[in-house]
Amino acid sequence: MLGVWWALAAGALLCLPGAPGLNNGLALSPPMGWLHWERFMCETDCEKNPSSCISEQLFMQMADMMVSNGWLKAGYKYLCIDDCWLATERDDNNRLQADPTRFPGGIKKLADYVHARGLLLGIYQDVGKQTCAGYPGSLGFYELDAQTFADWGVDLLKFDGCNYESLEQLEDGYRRMSIALNHTGRHILYSCEWPLYARHLSKVNYTEVAEYCNSWRNFDDIQDSWTSLKYVIDFTAAFQDQLVPAAGPGAWNDPDMLVIGNFGLSWAQEVTQMALWSIMAAPLLMSNDLRNINPRSQALLQNQEVIAINQDSLGAQGYRVLKANSFELWEKPLAGGSLAVSVTNRQEIGGAREFLLSRSDLWKGLACKEKCYLTQLLPTRYEYGSFNASFCLPLSVNPSSTVLVRVD
Ligand SMILES: *[C@@H]1O[C@H](CO)[C@@H](O)[C@H](O)[C@H]1NC(C)=O
Ligand SMILES: *[C@@H]1O[C@H](CO)[C@@H](O)[C@H](O)[C@H]1NC(C)=O
Repeated sequence: MLGVWWALAAGALLCLPGAPGLNNGLALSPPMGWLHWERFMCETDCEKNPSSCISEQLFMQMADMMVSNGWLKAGYKYLCIDDCWLATERDDNNRLQADPTRFPGGIKKLADYVHARGLLLGIYQDVGKQTCAGYPGSLGFYELDAQTFADWGVDLLKFDGCNYESLEQLEDGYRRMSIALNHTGRHILYSCEWPLYARHLSKVNYTEVAEYCNSWRNFDDIQDSWTSLKYVIDFTAAFQDQLVPAAGPGAWNDPDMLVIGNFGLSWAQEVTQMALWSIMAAPLLMSNDLRNINPRSQALLQNQEVIAINQDSLGAQGYRVLKANSFELWEKPLAGGSLAVSVTNRQEIGGAREFLLSRSDLWKGLACKEKCYLTQLLPTRYEYGSFNASFCLPLSVNPSSTVLVRVD
């Protein structure tokens, strides 16, 4: 029934969600966790920067924080290593090895440490000859590397796309690594960058990408700035006819990390990222310093009602409904005929402006007919109460901020 509503509402623009994703039983809702890249990048000098270099100590400290400060409880369970963990050479048997000074216990020991705390471990490799930072890539070693990760107890692989030889090799490599991971028998979540790199060369077949990957990046790395955030949001909206139908349980578009809790976003902009990443059914992979994060950002990232929108069991990716008068209206159908709605004020001057949220602009599949119950979740929680089916609700939205509302 839901599917019928959805199809009717979306018409020719957007198709049914839940085109079957990679069949490994993982990522039935968008993956949640922490990934080192945006905040810690490729810092390898542990003498000069002992507390921020890419080392087992950094990941052990983050693991401890994820458990003691409520992150795991809030749903963030993948602790993910990005580039720059590797030694510069493979070992004598061609197996990958971690940098011996920065990861003296090796990845297996780190995986054990992480698992003992109820978390899962993510790792990084590349489809080409070298990783983006120049460490040994997986080209020529897909099966061996998949087995090595399985032997170590890895739970997620982020597979980058630098230094590939041709479009054919890139696509073949992404397919082969997916099959190699499956053949290990270990359930390893597979996070791809296939469309990001293939986009330069061809039209991406998202049906196929979703068959091989649990999530995939479509555009450039996010940075700790409002400019970068706007770029990602605008790009997603511009390509939504292609992206939205591909998403569903097991398969997600990845607009890249949450940068909330760092330096570059104002409070209003942090609210916008959290609201839109939930609407977009994005993987919620934070990149920040969990040892030192302000309480307001922490509460935003751990907001259970907002996370519930992201993790909703229908698995529909939200989309932009309208863009007018420097406002953007997005919506995300939820299980049971509920709806999440966001309104962003994109005017970057002045104060709060009023947006009239009208039932007639919203999803036709909304289950409530006589009485709709409206709850504002961001920037602050507020229960508007019951409205009839033709409601029209004025919302006050600050510049570069977003109001997120749930309609039941
Ligand atoms: C491997 O693929 C098969 C067929 O799609 C699937 O049933 C199985 O669960 C997969 N195994 C793993 C470990 O991903
Ligand atoms: C896209 O991939 C799917 C699944 O692999 C395939 O069935 C379909 O023919 C492909 N579409 C195009 C246009 O190549």
